[in-house]
Amino acid sequence: MTLDTTAINQQMTHFDDHEAIWLFGYGSLIWKADFPFLERRPAHIVGWTRRFWQGSHDHRGTPEAPGRVATLTESPGAICHGMAYRITRDVLGPLDVREKNGYLRVVTPLHFDDSGHVESHEGLVYLASEDNAAFLGPASNAEIARQIAESHGPSGPNRDYLLNLADALREMGHDDPHIFALERELLALPKQPA
Ligand code: SIN
Repeated sequence: MTLDTTAINQQMTHFDDHEAIWLFGYGSLIWKADFPFLERRPAHIVGWTRRFWQGSHDHRGTPEAPGRVATLTESPGAICHGMAYRITRDVLGPLDVREKNGYLRVVTPLHFDDSGHVESHEGLVYLASEDNAAFLGPASNAEIARQIAESHGPSGPNRDYLLNLADALREMGHDDPHIFALERELLALPKQPA
């Protein structure tokens, strides 16, 4: 698959007849909501696990030295907590550009965490699957943390992405063993010069 997924996403027609759409964020979309939204609610999706397996050539690394950012991997029964945003359709255009490094819009059921009863909705999630050109896949926590420690891109140091995500999950009261293990590894490394 081509590296820049903007054009593929912009041809997608899911929810074309809806004025507003729920978008589930599990990575930077949790802590960097720099787009307009109508409403924001903590939520989770089922059957997916968050992993730092996606390369970042455009935000937290460069084509020559990619950083590592979050994607989701299929994991039956697993729960991935994040943040759901109700957005208008026009917000998808800029989001497609932000998520262009291998992510495709996928339709998913999402379940709100702030409701006293089970409340679910169909929504969208940006997913970087293993057939995308920027996919890096698994590595040891030590290797992933080292790559994150050394990577910088136009959006800033890769370490900020991981540390902000870990902080946001902690604030929301969620344990994510993969993220917190990477955070521990990263913080044990000597800080790289900017
Ligand atoms: C997301 O946050 O939902 C997608 C991946 C990212 O932008 O970090």
